Amino acid sequence: MPNQLIDDFGRHVRYVRISVTDRCDFRCVYCMSEEMTFLPRAQVLTIEELAMVARAFVEMGVEKIRLTGGEPLVRRGIDQLIEQTSALPGLRDLAMTTNGAGLVKHAHRLREAGLGRLNISLDTLDPERFRRLTRTGDLPRVLDGLRAARDAGFDRIKLNAVILKGRNDDEVLDLVEFARNEQVDLSFIEEMPLGEVSDHSRAETFCSSDEVKAAIEQRHQLIPTTETTLGPSRYFRMSDSESRIGFISPHSHNFCASCNRVRVTAEGRLLLCLGNEHSVDLRAVLRQHPGNLDALKLAIVKALPLKPERHHFTTDGDVQVVRFMNMTGG
Ligand code: GTP
Ligand code: 5AD
Ligand code: SF4
Repeated sequence: MPNQLIDDFGRHVRYVRISVTDRCDFRCVYCMSEEMTFLPRAQVLTIEELAMVARAFVEMGVEKIRLTGGEPLVRRGIDQLIEQTSALPGLRDLAMTTNGAGLVKHAHRLREAGLGRLNISLDTLDPERFRRLTRTGDLPRVLDGLRAARDAGFDRIKLNAVILKGRNDDEVLDLVEFARNEQVDLSFIEEMPLGEVSDHSRAETFCSSDEVKAAIEQRHQLIPTTETTLGPSRYFRMSDSESRIGFISPHSHNFCASCNRVRVTAEGRLLLCLGNEHSVDLRAVLRQHPGNLDALKLAIVKALPLKPERHHFTTDGDVQVVRFMNMTGG
């Protein structure tokens, strides 16, 4: 079995995003529809199956795993998955993207289990707006969660803000000040057209990273860096702060040529690209050949040629992918 995964375009897959559940306690307007129905539990990979998927990838050269959701902290057994995965030789970065609401309760246990890094979604600092954007979320709880994570020993925490014109684009500078004060990194994300949203017109709310960057540059000089977390963010520094500002710009600065990632959905579908549906059913392999790591690895290797050269997202409001973000965690 190969010890590295290289696709037909010469891209080396070193990063896997694993969605551990499609469920979430929030209903962010850009991520889910309001009446979301979730997968029956039997269709979601078990913790043992998830651990095996992580192991197969790491043994084939993957260095970074990010656990996503839905909301990973609503998944029972997540600590065991972290314990087993963090012990895998060769894995350099085990991270999680969370909405932060469960961190007061879970941050310590996550750290003890061996989680290395946390990204927390935070689109606004206004509690009422926060409620409107997440439909169910409570801002103070998330801010307490951020501080609990720091107290638990997480450093290099990163915030993620999806910026929507007319909804939170007036808060770009406030979010930057917040990140500087809290000494965390902050990435601004262009919204991607996954799933049909009812709350806003994506064509109208699209806000490019260049506009966000220009707003920040009214107050801070942004110094480009070549620093990378192996993720899609282009990072900038400010001369008077440790906080980095990142831009994730799938529309305006396509990064597919340097893509190093694949993702596994909550139901065990190996998706080769966020922007289309080419996939292989790893759950079927896991359940037909229980405990057979080689069968799993072979399925992954055979899936690799399905990885397309790039996504074809547009900003005109058209949905190219019917799957909502909560199925894949981005
Ligand atoms: P770091 O490891 O801290 O760099 O984080 P990350 O950017 O790798 O992960 P995070 O979960 O913070 O992702 C932030 C955003 O980037 C999410 O909205 C993801 O959907 C988006 N993203 C991550 N990978 C890809 C990708 O391959 N393609 C596209 N289009 N978006 C991606
Ligand atoms: N476009 C861009 N980012 C999204 N996220 C969720 N849905 C979308 C979307 N449609 C972000 C969340 C979280 C990360 C995993 O993905 O805000 O930070
Ligand atoms: Fe939940 Fe994250 Fe989707 Fe918001 S973006 S609904 S927090 S999975």
